[in-house]
Amino acid sequence: MSPRPFSMVATILFVVAQIFVTAISVSEDDKISSLPGQPPVKFQQYAGYITVDDKQQRALFYYFAEAEVDPASKPLVLWLNGGPGCSSLGAGAFVEHGPFKPTENGLVKNDYSWNKEANMLYLESPAGVGFSYSANKSFYRFIDDEITVKDSLVFLQRWFNKFPQYKNNDFFITGESYGGHYVPQLAQLIVQTKTPFNLKGIAIGNPLLEFNTDFNSRGEYFWSHGLISDLAYESLTTTCNYSQIRREAQSGSLTPACAGVGKLLSSEIGKFVDTYDVTADVCLSTIDQQSLVLSQLQETQKIDVCEEDKTHNYLNRKDVQQALHAKLVGLSTWSVCSDVVKYDMQNLEIPTIPILGKLVESGLRVLVYSGDQDSVIPLIGSRALVNALAKEIRFKTTMPYRAWFEGKQVAGWTQVYGDILSYATIRGAAHEAPFSQPERSLVLFKAFVEGKPLPEFSSS
Ligand SMILES: *[C@@H]1O[C@H](CO)[C@@H](O)[C@H](O)[C@H]1NC(C)=O
Repeated sequence: MSPRPFSMVATILFVVAQIFVTAISVSEDDKISSLPGQPPVKFQQYAGYITVDDKQQRALFYYFAEAEVDPASKPLVLWLNGGPGCSSLGAGAFVEHGPFKPTENGLVKNDYSWNKEANMLYLESPAGVGFSYSANKSFYRFIDDEITVKDSLVFLQRWFNKFPQYKNNDFFITGESYGGHYVPQLAQLIVQTKTPFNLKGIAIGNPLLEFNTDFNSRGEYFWSHGLISDLAYESLTTTCNYSQIRREAQSGSLTPACAGVGKLLSSEIGKFVDTYDVTADVCLSTIDQQSLVLSQLQETQKIDVCEEDKTHNYLNRKDVQQALHAKLVGLSTWSVCSDVVKYDMQNLEIPTIPILGKLVESGLRVLVYSGDQDSVIPLIGSRALVNALAKEIRFKTTMPYRAWFEGKQVAGWTQVYGDILSYATIRGAAHEAPFSQPERSLVLFKAFVEGKPLPEFSSS
């Protein structure tokens, strides 16, 4: 039995629906006149919804900050936070690299905002995250990479219809953490479907790329940074490694051996260190759950970042939601990581590192970067994965491993393969690198979108 005739009809209906939606949606409706408490700025901001499924009434929320200067000539950059289930608005835009940071009484300008270099598009994805919603609540129970990425593609197609002036700008997809799944898969889908976006490359920070390597490097990072003992590290290497603990914990079937090692790790690391930045102090007043899913096993270790607490308060203000054209559908509060999204955790095992190979082979620029104080997706794993990928696809080193600089200080280390596949660390940076090292992160971002090498030592 062939499903073809039906899907043809569905496609036609879909296209008709799309034209209809396009005809009635204009970007001016989404223009933000001003966010409550914001300082005056010269650039435009937009926010609102793009329907990605007309029948199921599924809509994704975006926030778009045009470049501070000359937006027409600057690239367009999509940003995706991870989780799975965490918000690009709450984390990416308001804690990491958006134009403003929330304070007790409003917003202050972020001096290292990425919209100094690009037009920044922040997407809350999948539906169920942040202000994005599905009218059919059953949707939340079956979310995986495939539907997330498909919805993101529909979002982009319709977003470009709303903002046709950006169709010819260089386009990049960026993200972090579980974005290591979304970003490469979305880029691949664009390439495979020959969707005519001007996609030039992707950049991903502390990304989940390969389950075993990434999770096992966590154990090594804990040990090398003094968070666990020699004894605990030995248990990880001989009794049960970290990826196995994680795999078993996730499926609810911890064996006694792995449970024992997990317990030892938890007791040594303790609850009062931020595993997303092992050198940072924690914000003691609140607990938060950004990237909760990727963090600790049984203990639901949560990061403590006061900045995120302020963002939480700000985005829950009614006047702010009105200014953003946002609404809460089926939820009473906005939260940085979703309580309703039930993600298929088997998807964590999908390796996305081979996709990076396919992307560079098709000529796209790929940057993998690591905040080097993160133990959740540590640099050790990411660096090894990129290095192994380069060998496999026979990309020679075109820039040997070297320090890169922001002014006179080392901002990290970098290596480039075949001119377009790069790896870089950001020294002193957390899992959310631009949060703790905004200036260095902006230098890295600028070099990436411009396609230039990272700066060397400068005496001026
Ligand atoms: C709601 O979504 C579920 C899961 O995607 C689907 O199976 C079901 O048919 C939908 N219900 C309606 C009324 O469309």
